[in-house]
Amino acid sequence: MLSFKDILQRIEEEISNLQFNYPPKSLYDPIEYILSLGGKRIRPALTLMACNIYNASIENAIKPALGLEVFHNFTLLHDDLMDEADKRRNKPTVHKVWNANTAILSGDAMLIAAYQLIGETEARHLKEILDLFTVTALEICGGQQYDMEFESRMNVSEAEYIEMIRLKTAVLLACSLKTGAILGGATESDANNLYQYGIYIGLAFQLQDDLLDVYGDTATFGKNIGGDILCNKKTFLLVNALHLASKEQKETMNLWFGKKTYKPEEKIASFTHIYDQLNLKTLTENKIQSYYDEAMKCLDQLSVSDEKLYVLKDVCDRLMNRQS
Ligand code: IPE
Ligand code: IPE
Ligand code: MG
Ligand code: MG
Ligand code: MG
Repeated sequence: MLSFKDILQRIEEEISNLQFNYPPKSLYDPIEYILSLGGKRIRPALTLMACNIYNASIENAIKPALGLEVFHNFTLLHDDLMDEADKRRNKPTVHKVWNANTAILSGDAMLIAAYQLIGETEARHLKEILDLFTVTALEICGGQQYDMEFESRMNVSEAEYIEMIRLKTAVLLACSLKTGAILGGATESDANNLYQYGIYIGLAFQLQDDLLDVYGDTATFGKNIGGDILCNKKTFLLVNALHLASKEQKETMNLWFGKKTYKPEEKIASFTHIYDQLNLKTLTENKIQSYYDEAMKCLDQLSVSDEKLYVLKDVCDRLMNRQS
């Protein structure tokens, strides 16, 4: 079995070997830029780990794994534009270094490059992998659309929120795992269990992202803290704040929602204070723990030894406590 470190090293090597040096430079430079900034590489790592559970060789999963990482980075270019985010991985976002049109078009080119890489999957699995990826990519667009629409809605329920993050975030982690499982030769039942495991860790992952957007540290998180608060993003914290708030807290939040000009740090401080008063950090941490427990139950149903699941369980533990 490969260690997590081996897998990450292989991914970095393969990403640095990806060639995007065709003309026009202005289209491909932003792609090299975003891909060179690192990130956790969790999606391709999940693909390769899942494959490695069933097969000592991970070679046939490399190209699809890279495709999934390129796809993820494409979503970041468009997401940062949609969220008006200035910072990612501790560097200015693509639309800040270049401009909005560049983020759109270089992003489009990355989506196509992702398809190209996934299209290199061995023929006997190609249709299944491509179908899974296509459904997943459409689901992510759906999730992003809900995410944007929820910004101007104040009555988003927790169930609607969970469905939104299942779509925008969890399905890609699930797809990454299932892709690796299929290519490694897992049974259909194991591949589906790993998919479900990915949904649970994906939900926990997005909840942790929401939490870090308020309580994280910019230097380690790599993104500006409070970005979600500034655009009235219906995070787990805000959805719950809107349900649990006192009359006075509701009035404060409504006042902010109505303001067009304000000092960003004041709005962030005001919402953070309300979240503190309502103890929403603990509420979110408990929800993360409950998804983690569900994820572990999925692993218990797999037809492989505990020893083989060690790397997956270990990564899951680290993700739950991540600060970046
Ligand atoms: C960011 O994903 C988008 C979310 C789903 C929260 P990651 O947190 O995996 O970002 P990188 O790739 O490690 O930078
Ligand atoms: C992540 O949502 C979903 C996608 C990128 C598809 P966020 O908007 O919370 O991600 P970050 O926080 O910008 O990384
Ligand atoms: Mg977003
Ligand atoms: Mg964003
Ligand atoms: Mg976020």
